[in-house]
Amino acid sequence: MRLIVTGGAGFIGSAVVRQAVMAGHEVLNLDALTYAACLDNVASVADRANYTFLEADIRDRAAMDQAFTDHQPDAIMHLAAESHVDRSIDGPGTFIETNINGTYTLLEAARAYWVGQGKPDSFRFHHISTDEVYGSLGDTGQFTEDTAYDPRSPYSASKAASDHLVRAWAETYGLPVVLTNCSNNYGPYHFPEKLIPVVILNALAGKPLPIYGDGSNVRDWLYVEDHADALLTVLQRGQVGRSYNIGGENERSNLELVQTICAILDRLKPGPKPYADLITFVTDRPGHDARYAIDPTRIREELGWRPSVTVEEGLEKTVRWYLDNEAWWRALQDRHGVGERLGVKA
Ligand SMILES: NC(=O)c1ccc[n+]([C@@H]2O[C@H](COP(=O)([O-])OP(=O)(O)OC[C@H]3O[C@@H](n4cnc5c(N)ncnc54)[C@H](O)[C@@H]3O)[C@@H](O)[C@H]2O)c1
Repeated sequence: MRLIVTGGAGFIGSAVVRQAVMAGHEVLNLDALTYAACLDNVASVADRANYTFLEADIRDRAAMDQAFTDHQPDAIMHLAAESHVDRSIDGPGTFIETNINGTYTLLEAARAYWVGQGKPDSFRFHHISTDEVYGSLGDTGQFTEDTAYDPRSPYSASKAASDHLVRAWAETYGLPVVLTNCSNNYGPYHFPEKLIPVVILNALAGKPLPIYGDGSNVRDWLYVEDHADALLTVLQRGQVGRSYNIGGENERSNLELVQTICAILDRLKPGPKPYADLITFVTDRPGHDARYAIDPTRIREELGWRPSVTVEEGLEKTVRWYLDNEAWWRALQDRHGVGERLGVKA
């Protein structure tokens, strides 16, 4: 297939680009190269003949029209977004502009291109979203594709709005879309402002391991390569107009997760003391959702997809990757806001 992948220099987008290129698809990686981007993430495929990079902003309609005209895609996988909840608390404006206005601009460019092509049924606009649009769960229950939206942070509200736009473009204009809502990802190339890399890198530096609140918040963790595999599965075999929830069936509290990482590090790179001694509880995030859990029945039963690794296996691979790729993460630690506590102004 000929694919445009937006946000392909980010964490998940780069995993999609690497897998799609290696699977033989003709990939245009379209990314504005914000603070969260790193082209080293796609260095392993950058020299391949079926890979092209375009620095462009999804809010720029002329640039989007040009990208569609030049690349002539069969599908677009839309991952470009502002993605860090803590940054959305301090500065919601860019989340509104990129996640909502940017998605609107991209939808209009995609629609114009699709109409110009004679409205092929085979075209796909694949919108990649998050389970955070569903809000927060209590101790029991899981999000299904029919769970009502109840976003509670500027980030999740902006993603929910973009999901609504995508569905509206499908209903109103007939644009062939698929949507996916995924749980928390982790793995190689995770930007060093998110919980798991922060914990690994602080531990290696002997710094405190910050856990928000009492560490009881539960997330359903998915290894990023499994997410990328699920996305390519939904793109190629998902039913048009449908949403698919993607989860790892790996629920862990933040405290359990951090303790697991510490135990892996104790084994792989023993320090003077157990790394768990560095755990420090810090002021909670305002509006911190208590629990997310995905019911992945639809993607499993319709498309036969399931994750390939458990969270323990995925975390071990991840820790090993950070131990082996110090040059990658050191270069990113100087970027604006990295290493600072964000999102406590509210
Ligand atoms: N990280 C997770 O756990 C998770 C879980 C579920 C869904 N998602 C969704 O997956 C997508 C990717 O998440 P991620 O964690 O890889 O994010 P990321 O922040 O690592 O990467 C986002 C990429 O988008 C690019 N970008 C930002 N604004 C842009 C713009 N205006 N125009 C073009 N490019 C722009 C950035 O430069 C960056 O390369 C997002 O849509 C996010 O909402 C993430």
